[in-house]
Amino acid sequence: MKPLAALSVASEIYPLVKTGGLADVAGALPGALAAEQVSLRTLCPGYRPVLAALKKAETVAKFNDLFGGPARLLAGRAGALELFALDAPHLYDRDGGPYAGPDGLDFADNAFRFAALAKVGAALGQGLVEGFAPKILHAHDWQAGLAAAYLHYSGKPRPGAVMTVHNLAFQGQFPAELFAALGLPPQAFSIEGVEYYGGIGFLKAGLQLSDRVTTVSPTYAQEIQQPHAGMGLDGLLRARASELSGILNGIDVDVWNPETDPLIAAPFSAKKLGARADNKKALQARLALAREPERLLVGVVSRLSWQKGLDLLLACLPVLEQCDAQLALLGSGDPALEAAFQEAAQTHPGRIGVHFGYEERLAHLIQAGADAILVPSRFEPCGLTQLCAMRYGAVPVVARVGGLADTIIDANEMALQANCATGLQFAPVAADALAGALRRCAALHAQKSLWKKLQTNGLKTDVSWANPARHYAQIYREIAPPDAKS
Ligand code: ADP
Ligand code: GLC
Repeated sequence: MKPLAALSVASEIYPLVKTGGLADVAGALPGALAAEQVSLRTLCPGYRPVLAALKKAETVAKFNDLFGGPARLLAGRAGALELFALDAPHLYDRDGGPYAGPDGLDFADNAFRFAALAKVGAALGQGLVEGFAPKILHAHDWQAGLAAAYLHYSGKPRPGAVMTVHNLAFQGQFPAELFAALGLPPQAFSIEGVEYYGGIGFLKAGLQLSDRVTTVSPTYAQEIQQPHAGMGLDGLLRARASELSGILNGIDVDVWNPETDPLIAAPFSAKKLGARADNKKALQARLALAREPERLLVGVVSRLSWQKGLDLLLACLPVLEQCDAQLALLGSGDPALEAAFQEAAQTHPGRIGVHFGYEERLAHLIQAGADAILVPSRFEPCGLTQLCAMRYGAVPVVARVGGLADTIIDANEMALQANCATGLQFAPVAADALAGALRRCAALHAQKSLWKKLQTNGLKTDVSWANPARHYAQIYREIAPPDAKS
């Protein structure tokens, strides 16, 4: 098969800049697609850690005034990643995270920071750099959404455009007054273009003007076409239903490999599950939990936000206690949730251990050491932590929504009989149902051989990028423009 050149445009990329699963996906796709004869290079903002990681970067384009300052486009490698980094100090050389300052507030000029990314992405897609002529521009989330608009309104030949929605909750909506500065023609400010409820919608533009729209699970692809989960975009998504598909994420099975993971206390495998015990011990020590090898240990690795439903877990702490379980929680986000879990840890010493912040090592240790991983999300486009859990022999207990519903097989009677269960699901996403799931989890955990089956089934599940990569490559090939006749 002929190799296909493609460009991915993403606002974060593992291992350089990450606030969530988007970074994992952007970081893993190039390697996964290489197996499908797609050569995928990624454009990301030149944040400090990106520039620091770029090896032997070459300046491949210069801009005198890119939304208020000079900028240059660098091309180079960072580890296995082939990157284009947009070095625009006035936009990206800042303290804080990719979207917000140290005070936690979104940067006031985010519209321009990501319009710049999208604009340069579109230019790259249309031959800005000699020797790079991608057939596909793959935009991730609202931060890259405007790329489809720049391509569409350029009036020039363009690559096929794919828009992937990782989370419809983040839409990049800005006031109409900013439109003039975006450098799009007047007709772009219309319902067929970037206009969205009187303002500008970056994600809306991407959904409207891309050839294909994908999201990260089949169930979420259905959910977002309905008013309850469509967050105002369900009408547009229904209108584009025939170009919309749900492709489950994978995880990087080299980064998440329990046999070689340098971040855990003891390596293990499906055949040597016993060695997990050392990780449980290390986890209990790390979070000041009582060192009790037999006690059910429930883990959480999550952003702390309304989406993730962890307030429901707070409501269920008495149930956790009745079940005699321990809780290990790693999270960051909502200060009120952090405070509530902190207080819970103080009132349940040895039973509840918490750590707030972002910490890769502890995330891996929780997956390797906890018996179960809880994901009680109110909505979840795909979710990666339940996939990591299966790969690490932790049994996922998940809300029956989005990608969680698609990836975990509930341990109901039929699934247990067929020996295909991989975890527990609960619905609706409410404290009562979660309480029921926790009780069910404790009862199953007490049946050692059954529990081991759940773990083994999870470990056998293919959570790699192989299948998803095939899907993406297929879509790319369907919409790639034909080669120009010479
Ligand atoms: P989302 O992108 O909505 O946050 P996902 O489940 O898709 O949810 O991805 C979350 C990713 O971030 C996973 O790789 C998970 O391990 C990681 N993660 C979440 N919170 C933390 C944290 N506090 N510390 C380290 N890793 C975290
Ligand atoms: C988003 C979603 C999450 C998904 C991730 C990667 O952050 O919240 O469900 O797994 O993107 O696609």
